[in-house]
Amino acid sequence: MRVLTTMTMQDELHIPVMLDEALAALAVRADGVYLDGTFGRGGHARRLLRELGPNGRLLLMDRDPAAVAAARLEFADDARVSIRHGNFADMADWDAVRDGLDGILLDLGVSSPQLDNAARGFSFQTDAPLDMRMDTSHGENAAQFLARAQEREIAEVLWKFGEERMGRRIARAIVERRHGAPITRTGELAELITRVLGRREPGKHPATRTFQALRIAVNGELDAIEQGLNAALDVLKPHGRLAVISFHSLEDRIVKQFMRDQSHEPPAKRGLPPPAPIALKLKLIGHAQLPGDAEIARNPRARSAVLRVAERLP
Ligand SMILES: C[S@@+](CC[C@H](N)C(=O)[O-])C[C@H]1O[C@@H](n2cnc3c(N)ncnc32)[C@H](O)[C@@H]1O
Repeated sequence: MRVLTTMTMQDELHIPVMLDEALAALAVRADGVYLDGTFGRGGHARRLLRELGPNGRLLLMDRDPAAVAAARLEFADDARVSIRHGNFADMADWDAVRDGLDGILLDLGVSSPQLDNAARGFSFQTDAPLDMRMDTSHGENAAQFLARAQEREIAEVLWKFGEERMGRRIARAIVERRHGAPITRTGELAELITRVLGRREPGKHPATRTFQALRIAVNGELDAIEQGLNAALDVLKPHGRLAVISFHSLEDRIVKQFMRDQSHEPPAKRGLPPPAPIALKLKLIGHAQLPGDAEIARNPRARSAVLRVAERLP
């Protein structure tokens, strides 16, 4: 296990995923107003801005203060850009959004700087404080969650958000361990999981699913996606585009279901009267898109990406 404590320039790099596809999906108008709700290190935002003319506007958001600092450093002097620290679930509360948006991009999950900076505590590859919060300005971190939660709650999180079949055994081991002292380091947790599970799957660290589950729980990621998608319906102008890139099946399932529900009448159920028609709010644009082989070869972190696109109906 590497022990890394300082941040290097390397840690600041994030290669944007499905950049051409995402920009094409937004069908950017030079004088439009767009929201990048997941700024990260600005790969998508930078390209979007290039397509905007002097009357276009770009609103940038991220819940990670480090991402917001990077956005301010780069874009503070551009009159077309507004920047806000916050959760995209709350996008509708932002004054800048009130007049409506021509497009929204959500590139979900964590960025490379978050994963690669050991001090953020997202990775089982490096020993560091067990934090995992995207928004480091407030809220419970992963160590605090593991110190507080009941065994049943920990097991449920590991199953629901990590699909970890051995979640109960891991939860029991965590609770036994914390009787002695709380688990505060990524290394301790990774070792505990390795001891409980053994090295069962070649090519996959035994802590992969547990770390994913804790990250999703600590950041309330799936709730934020649901809320963000619903908020998008309220703030998109007619014909405004919604483009969402997800990175695992739990995220994609929510996006797929939401876009389907908003774009199709509910199916009739056998033996029941046909359901009342509902006001559809979205039209699907194409099918789910995946990155090409060349992109995956260039950027292995793109391998699980799925892009879904929809347009707001008038
Ligand atoms: C995959 S990265 C985005 C990368 C970005 N598109 C780029 O090219 O640099 C995801 C970013 O979204 C942020 N994020 C995730 N969930 C969020 C939420 N609910 N609200 C705001 N930001 C969020 C993370 O902090 C992270 O910086």
